[in-house]
Amino acid sequence: MESDKRHPFLNGLSKHRGAPPTVIVIFGASGDLTARKLIPAIYNLGVDNLLPSQFFFIGVGRKPIENKQFQEIARTSVKSFSRRDIVDDVWPRIEANIQYHAGGYDDPKSYLDLKEKILKIEESSDRKLQLLFYISTPPNVFEPILENLGASGLANHNANSPIESKVIIEKPFGKDLESAKALNQTITRNFNEKQVYRIDHYLGKETVQDLLVQRFSNAIFEPIWNRNYVNCVQITVAESLGVGTRGGYYDQSGALRDMIQNHTMQLLALVAMEPPVSLDPESIRDEKVKLLKAIQPLDLNPDNGDVVRAQYTEGLINGERVPGYMQSEGIPETSTTETYAALRLSINNWRWKGIPFYMRSGKSMSTRVSEIAIQFKRPPGILFSDDQRFDLAPNTMVLKIQPDEGVTIVMNSKVPGLETRTQPVKMDFRYATTFGSNTPEAYERLILDSMVGDSTLFIRGDETEASWKLITPILEYWKKCGKRGVEEYVAGSWGPLAAEQLLWANKNEWRRSGL
Ligand code: BG6
Repeated sequence: MESDKRHPFLNGLSKHRGAPPTVIVIFGASGDLTARKLIPAIYNLGVDNLLPSQFFFIGVGRKPIENKQFQEIARTSVKSFSRRDIVDDVWPRIEANIQYHAGGYDDPKSYLDLKEKILKIEESSDRKLQLLFYISTPPNVFEPILENLGASGLANHNANSPIESKVIIEKPFGKDLESAKALNQTITRNFNEKQVYRIDHYLGKETVQDLLVQRFSNAIFEPIWNRNYVNCVQITVAESLGVGTRGGYYDQSGALRDMIQNHTMQLLALVAMEPPVSLDPESIRDEKVKLLKAIQPLDLNPDNGDVVRAQYTEGLINGERVPGYMQSEGIPETSTTETYAALRLSINNWRWKGIPFYMRSGKSMSTRVSEIAIQFKRPPGILFSDDQRFDLAPNTMVLKIQPDEGVTIVMNSKVPGLETRTQPVKMDFRYATTFGSNTPEAYERLILDSMVGDSTLFIRGDETEASWKLITPILEYWKKCGKRGVEEYVAGSWGPLAAEQLLWANKNEWRRSGL
């Protein structure tokens, strides 16, 4: 259909009906992400009748597990984590086509055996099958898996047919610029870029997709979306959970790598990029890369620079006492890993020159909330200004990503009465009220898009490198500083004082997120 070609992003559904027969092969089959997100996502696609008519799922892992046992594990994961209850006429159809394959990720023989299994499935089906490899393992085996997929011919399966193999790669995509480049090289040695789907699950969230619709389908916002009207932009991705039992992984990562380099950078790119010429994947990704490249290198000085890092100390969250980061399981005494990071960024382009973009992300914060607040300049203080009867707030448009999804506009209004008093009020659009709740999970959208070959909501190789280019000098500088510059914040608070000061320097303040 003509319209599908022009607008793959918006015409998702009609296009999705055409997903070719598929074998999805998930590496890391007994991992947490597979149980919590991937299997429930596959199940929900099944409920919505969006899986191809021939759909097979092979879980790959190191542990020896029988097919039957893996089918049981998959059923339990649907029961425990799916947004919708298990319906018996859908699950058995999926379950009948689930297999398990045990093998070492760096063992070439295991890939040849896997290929055998796939060929058998193909023989029993009357169609050529697309292979969708989903790498959801710890990052140290990403490269062996990619190389072995290449060497075994699985990456090129069906090379002479229009159906190709594809590979989805989970985060973390490298730990700095150099390792991200090396990973990109391994990928391109074995796959073409158009076969590759780098995941950032934030892009699969409904509200993040809506950001493009809000920006580019409404005429009232675009004219004021620039340095003439905007005072600052604040991106908050706060979590109330601490590191829990993930200390071992987290201590190698930290907020900058775990959240800022990927999720918040993606939010920034979407909110600040120029309008793409069309909604096709390359036009959108070209604009994101241009934006990321326009961000200026940061001033790293811990005293009054552009970056703040901190660790949480013991505190109360929702009335419960939680231990500090340093007291959590698996954290070495010498750890300098940040559980909170805040950045002030300048974008050196025509639209945004001079306007600060702030971003912050942390664990064990007051509440779980992700949002983007675009704060507009104040009107000239001629009519309603310094008089105490006038409680005036800057106009702010808040794109609420989660958990309370919606868009809020803060404006000032007259308080009813004979005296002229003002008060900030909110205009609220809430997804749940307008559309009902139970929207698809990010992974449903992302698995579906990769099956049909729409890479709009995935990260391109140059995009991830542009983001690492900005973040890597911070990591290197922090490594040199050791503990110097690591601030503290009490668990259950909104972060360290230094992050407040980051904004005060430009006479700004963090919005009270979640309101
Ligand atoms: C992941 C991080 O990418 O995102 C986790 O590794 C974090 O540390 C998670 O908790 C947050 O995702 P969401 O969708 O719950 O906001």
